[in-house]
Amino acid sequence: MKLLPSLIMMLVLVLYFESLPSVRAQSSTIYPGSSSTREEAKALDALLQQYAYRALVNPKTGTIYNATHLPSNLTGIEVAALRLRSGSLRRKGFHAYNEFEIPKGLIASPYVERLVLVYQNLGNWSTRYYSLPNYTYLAPVLGLLAYDGSNLSATNLSELEIDASQGPILVKFREVKSAPHGAVAKCVWFGLQGSSNFSNVTGGNTCSSSQQGHFSIVVPSSATPAPSPAPNEGPAPSAQGEGEKDNKKVWIIVGSVVGGLALLVLLSLLVLWMNKYKKKKKMQQMERAAEVGEALQMASIGDTKAPAATVTRTQPTLEHEYAP
Ligand SMILES: *[C@@H]1O[C@H](CO)[C@@H](O)[C@H](O)[C@H]1NC(C)=O
Ligand SMILES: *[C@@H]1O[C@H](CO)[C@@H](O)[C@H](O)[C@H]1NC(C)=O
Ligand SMILES: *[C@@H]1O[C@H](CO)[C@@H](O)[C@H](O)[C@H]1NC(C)=O
Repeated sequence: MKLLPSLIMMLVLVLYFESLPSVRAQSSTIYPGSSSTREEAKALDALLQQYAYRALVNPKTGTIYNATHLPSNLTGIEVAALRLRSGSLRRKGFHAYNEFEIPKGLIASPYVERLVLVYQNLGNWSTRYYSLPNYTYLAPVLGLLAYDGSNLSATNLSELEIDASQGPILVKFREVKSAPHGAVAKCVWFGLQGSSNFSNVTGGNTCSSSQQGHFSIVVPSSATPAPSPAPNEGPAPSAQGEGEKDNKKVWIIVGSVVGGLALLVLLSLLVLWMNKYKKKKKMQQMERAAEVGEALQMASIGDTKAPAATVTRTQPTLEHEYAP
């Protein structure tokens, strides 16, 4: 009878392990900025800060310097650095730092006399570092990060805090792929602490933010792809791809539930059968024990074993015992 609990235990374990992969797959869809990609994005920020600062050789204040010697494993990423006095940034802003328009009134804290704004265009690396399940990027991820500009050979700097007190920073994306028919494009902002936020696109290509961080324009990939043939085929295939992936996930979950149930039924049948078998065996054992007992009795009678047995069997006294 101890067999039953251990079988149930085994069943629970089997079901648990079977459900593990699908649970893991789900959680990575639910929480887009999984901790590993978040760490990778932070490491990339630190690396790009170094390359941006290397471009600042005897820099002129207010001039944009492109980083030119990025390692070959980062081909496709563009980085620039802009060094400014905090006071001038607060009074005048900076009209056009590539796609970014920085309004006046921007305050960095803690206070530094000079700061460096690092610009990033992640290009075809955007989805690698800022994966956003169920969304398709219509523009590359752009970054704007503020650092202390007093020591240009500093590495591993942490970002300054930025507060846009008189109007938001604008990001005017240069090339935005057209959204699939009927889908609404959204601005997405990734904060430095791993948060993210969606907002509306204005003027077809502009996002606004009071914060530094990473920006792009996205569209939900579940949206029906454009029925028109040629021009915007870009986002449609990947949208279908993700739909298929979701379908696959659903089937995996359904499959494991059905499989688990089938296993449960099989195991229950096994338990029932084993109980029956055990009972049968016990009965057989008892019968055999009875026979053996009889045999022993016969044996003890000695030479006259056979006739004695027949006598015992044919003796009517057994019946008489029960008779009234
Ligand atoms: C720096 O890169 C930007 C694109 O990110 C480009 O528009 C600009 O012309 C480049 N400037 C120089 C001096 O190469
Ligand atoms: C690129 O390669 C360098 C070594 O050449 C390495 O330190 C760095 O981590 C690599 N970066 C990425 C993003 O793979
Ligand atoms: C981006 O494109 C460059 C070539 O332009 C390539 O070397 C690099 O591997 C690509 N990056 C990714 C993540 O596909």
